[in-house]
Amino acid sequence: MTRPDNASQNPELPAAAHPQGKYEAQQKQRLNYMPWLYWSLKPKLKAWAQAWQAQWQAYLTDMETVHIEGEVFISPEAQLFAEPGRAIHIRDGSFIGANAVLHGPIDIGRKVGINHHCQIDGGKKGIVIGDECRIAAYCSLIAFNHRYDMAMPISEQGINSKGITLGKDIWLGTHTAVVDGVTIGDKAVVGMRSVVTKDIAANTVAAGNPAKSIKQRP
Ligand SMILES: CC(C)(COP(=O)(O)OP(=O)(O)OC[C@H]1O[C@@H](n2cnc3c(N)ncnc32)[C@H](O)[C@@H]1OP(=O)(O)O)[C@@H](O)C(=O)NCCC(=O)NCCS
Repeated sequence: MTRPDNASQNPELPAAAHPQGKYEAQQKQRLNYMPWLYWSLKPKLKAWAQAWQAQWQAYLTDMETVHIEGEVFISPEAQLFAEPGRAIHIRDGSFIGANAVLHGPIDIGRKVGINHHCQIDGGKKGIVIGDECRIAAYCSLIAFNHRYDMAMPISEQGINSKGITLGKDIWLGTHTAVVDGVTIGDKAVVGMRSVVTKDIAANTVAAGNPAKSIKQRP
């Protein structure tokens, strides 16, 4: 399967699928960077955008171990890498914005928002993101650490991976970083530019580096 040209008007689609005319490339960019708009498109535009997404998602699921359930939006400007054994699952109502880089294993629930420029690497153990989580732009979730004994170069020592788990209805503010082994409980909020090094309990608002509880969600 040939990689679709998503940057500009796609000549492989029939003319009727281009109601946007000269606005099409710009409309794609709006959706790439503000993917939540996909669910509020007017029917005529939605048909066009669905055809665009169907073509891209068919390519992606053919090339990588990506499993899609229901209707999702995946920016063609995001990078998804999922070798066999490192699958990425994406469920109904979820979106992935432009320049996000995802490497499985990653399990994404329903109605999850992963915004532009996020970096999510499942390491060996994997990352689980529960339903209705909102992950703001530029967040990093990295589910592995290099081993770093003095005996040999770090590059030769391999990695440790415990995995990262996010419960449901969690909001990570922009530029939040989450280290390997962390579990964040349901309905937690994490302030912008926080570094999460320890578990965060459910319903807690946490912030800072290292992230600490600042209040409870009302
Ligand atoms: C975490 C957040 C939601 C809290 O907002 P809030 O409920 O209005 O809380 P407050 O502003 O009253 O802050 C409470 C305390 O936490 C501190 N705090 C808030 N956000 C912080 C942050 N990101 N890092 C460090 N400390 C923070 C405040 O300084 C304040 O401290 P104080 O009690 O000593 O004065 C907000 O500060 C934040 O970081 N929002 C993320 C915005 C974002 O990334 N948006 C992307 C759109 S998806």
